[in-house]
Formats: sequence, C-alpha cells, structure tokens
Amino acid sequence: MDILNNPVIQELIRTSATIYTHGWAERNGGNISMLLDDDLSGMTPIKSFPLAFTPPDLTGACIVITGSGKYLKNVSLDPESNLGILRIAEDRAELLWGFKDGSSPSSELASHLFTHSVRRKADPMHHVVTHTHATNLVAMTFIHPLSDRAFTKTLWSMCTECMMFFPDGVSVLPWMPCGTDEIGRKTADKMRDSRIVVWAHHGVFGAGTSPDDALGLIEVAEKAAELYMKVYDKEILSKIDDTRLRELCDAQNIIPRAGYLD
Ligand code: 13P
Ligand code: ZN
Repeated sequence: MDILNNPVIQELIRTSATIYTHGWAERNGGNISMLLDDDLSGMTPIKSFPLAFTPPDLTGACIVITGSGKYLKNVSLDPESNLGILRIAEDRAELLWGFKDGSSPSSELASHLFTHSVRRKADPMHHVVTHTHATNLVAMTFIHPLSDRAFTKTLWSMCTECMMFFPDGVSVLPWMPCGTDEIGRKTADKMRDSRIVVWAHHGVFGAGTSPDDALGLIEVAEKAAELYMKVYDKEILSKIDDTRLRELCDAQNIIPRAGYLD
C-alpha cells in the first residue's frame, strides 16, 4: 500500500490540521484513529506495544493512529513520525509503519480500540474515532446536568441540524482519569447507543465512517454547545421545543432516541 498517497490517510491528515485551526488541539490535545481496509498482511512488524486487553473481534485488524504526545497541527508536516499503523493482536499492537522517531500510540488507545469494536458491530461502514478538546462542549459540562438525556435535549434544541445528524443523541461520562482501560470501556459502552461521547471537563469522542464524518459530527454538536454557552443566561423568547423537534422528525423521517422527547 502506498500509505501516504492513500486518500483516506490524506483525509485524516487534513482533519488533524482542521482540528488545530478550530482551537481544539492545544499542545498534544486530541487523537484520531481509523480502521484500514487494505490488506497489510505482507508488512513485517517493526516492533510491538503490549496491550492489557484487546476486544477479541479486533484481532488482526489494522488501524492508523496518532502518536502519544504528538501535536495534531504537526501531523501534515511529518506524517511518518506523528502517525503509526498498528496490527492488533491478542496481547499487543504490532507497529507496521510510522512512529519513525520512536514514539508510541496515543495514550487513549484503549478508548479507540473499544470504541472501534462497538461501532463496527453497530455500523459496518464505521471506520474512524476522533477525540478532541472541543471548547464549548467541555465548557457546558461545568454548568449543565450531565445526564445523557438532559445534555442531548439541550443540544437538540439549540440548532435544527442536531436532530438530523445525531438523532441517537450524545452521551456523557462524568470526570474520571483519562488514558486508562476503564475510561475506554466506559466510552465504548456509551458508544453502543450514540456516536458522540462527551468526557466531562476534558473533551469529546466522535465516531464516523470517515475522518470528515467523525469530525463533522463533533462540529455540529460543538456548534450547538457554543450557541448554548452564548444564550443560556439570557432571556429566551423563542426556541426549538419538543413539539418542533417532533415536527422536524416527521418532516425528515428521523427516529429520535426513544424516550428522549416529551
Ligand atoms: P495523546 O497525546 O497521548 O494522544 O493524549 C492526548 C489527549 O488528548 C489525552 O486525552
Ligand atoms: Zn484528551
């Protein structure tokens, strides 16, 4: 495979730069991974990284992922140092390409692997998991109730497109230490029902069919959060209430998350 000329890897590299220009990737904040469909069986492992636990259905799968400590703004400047291609085995990840400067996979590898496992079962077109520090979604977690339903309903009510792009809603995890298997499993549990998981006081995970799709989803949720942060303390004279959301679902043939609309 001509790795750097692969259009989906090019799209992932462009996406990394976009996240930085959005202001959501301070320092090494954020990471992206993508399942690869290419046959990489001919590639010889350069080295291995031990894994405490691998979702069994991912054994043999290959992903490209950003490196730990890498700045998303730099991915396009030196993809071979900032990205690595891993083949997942039962107890390790084999490095097939990249991390040329000796770096290792993102510290959020567990969240990426567990999420890929869950989302690929839910949607055969699933390929990408993106984690970013989207400013307003994080800000909201300081002032808004953190239940999945309450958070979702607020975002749905902020702009019309939210219901169209995430009728399954968003999920929220309370604050907990990052970079662990535990947060990975909890993120993936939430990903069974929704493609967006907000980590309170930290960031957001989005899943999608492509780098653009996963980022686009986060962009819609973040726009709604930005609108909320602009208006939550103002007098509201007009809003998209549940009646209007139902009207929208009827007009667009959308099935909203069961039990969320009154
Ligand atoms: P990495 O640099 O290890 O990918 O970590 C960044 C991050 O956002 C942790 O949550
Ligand atoms: Zn983070």
